[in-house]
Amino acid sequence: MESFNEKLAQQVDGYIEGLFVPHDEALAQGLKDAEAAGLPSINVSANEGKLLYLITKMAQAKRVLEIGTLGGFSTTWLARALPGNGKLITLELDQKHADVARKNLDRAGVGDKVEIRVGRASDSLQKMITQGETPFDLIFIDADKPGYVEYLNRSLQLTRPGTVILADNLIRNGRVMDSHPGDESARGAKAYNDALAQHPRLESIILPILRETLDGLSISIVK
Ligand code: SAH
Ligand code: DHB
Ligand code: MG
Repeated sequence: MESFNEKLAQQVDGYIEGLFVPHDEALAQGLKDAEAAGLPSINVSANEGKLLYLITKMAQAKRVLEIGTLGGFSTTWLARALPGNGKLITLELDQKHADVARKNLDRAGVGDKVEIRVGRASDSLQKMITQGETPFDLIFIDADKPGYVEYLNRSLQLTRPGTVILADNLIRNGRVMDSHPGDESARGAKAYNDALAQHPRLESIILPILRETLDGLSISIVK
């Protein structure tokens, strides 16, 4: 890890952003309002948002499920990739985060496509399973990391063959390679990676993602 050049990585990330992610006033104002409301700055990067958007378009997704809304930054990228009749359900524990996200999504022009469900993600997922919710085309997992394996197992009950499952923060600057990572979020990410690697119903890879440090996004498809 000592050889990872943070400065170069940030320059490369900025170079890519300059080429492919033009300034967007609604997204920029949404981040400002989230910060002003005291939300943590742990949204996906601009480049990762563009990546989520492209994958959602490639999957031709009409129904998207997101776990972990925060201020709606990644939600906006996902929702913008949907067709006119598309729908996105996003799960968030914190009512304050949901309130900030609602304003941001409306301002970004995607509010009518997005339903925010407030509560523990595991409860919301179980409710959808029990109620026989129509399968999703794409699922993005980005809430509390210790919950990831449970979110995967429950999410799988809301899929069909071909559903794409993405999950954020799976490298944690390399801490997931420790045999027993010191923090619970790296432990949660490591458990998720191990679950993906040997999962009989999934084909998967982790894409390294440049942020302030090195992180990763998993891409899985349901067999
Ligand atoms: N996807 C967002 C970032 C999400 S940050 C983006 O990139 O823009 C993680 C979010 O998960 C936080 O808003 C946090 O409140 C929420 N969260 C944490 N534990 C949760 C739980 N048990 N159920 C649902 N959401 C949870
Ligand atoms: C954290 C959570 C995230 O979803 C993220 O993208 C970065 C950091 C965190 O809890 O530290
Ligand atoms: Mg994340």
